[in-house]
Amino acid sequence: MKKLLLLNGPNLGILGEREVGIYGSATLADIERSVAKEAAERNWEVVGVQHDCEGALVRTVQDNYDTVGAVINPGALMIAGWSLRDALANYPRPWIEVHLSNVWAREQFRHESILAPLATGLIAGLGAHGYQLATRALMERIPAE
Ligand code: DQA
Repeated sequence: MKKLLLLNGPNLGILGEREVGIYGSATLADIERSVAKEAAERNWEVVGVQHDCEGALVRTVQDNYDTVGAVINPGALMIAGWSLRDALANYPRPWIEVHLSNVWAREQFRHESILAPLATGLIAGLGAHGYQLATRALMERIPAE
């Protein structure tokens, strides 16, 4: 069975209780379920991983170079996660960066992503729905074999 990587960075494990006015009330488990539902259409299994530490995220990317693609919310590591960036530079499949909030409508320090230039695309500001849209976009880009 083909696998889709769903990777979430620091502070995203507490979705549902974290600044609900900004990030919404969906939990990470809700998001993982909704992505799995979309991916089932292509018979892809979703590998859902969340870590607060950058090194663990790097290792997860390295261990998942054989996935069909990835949906990644790096959280604040978008700003300065250089080792995550290097791991993603070697990720051979399409991947989409997702942010629940519209980071460009927020503080200045959130306005640059060092990861986005490597991504196939980026979705921001559409809340939990963004993960589903990213999954659909990958399904459209990745040919069925
Ligand atoms: C976030 C936006 C980041 O700026 C923030 O550090 C997060 C969440 C989002 O999903 O909107 O942790 O990636």
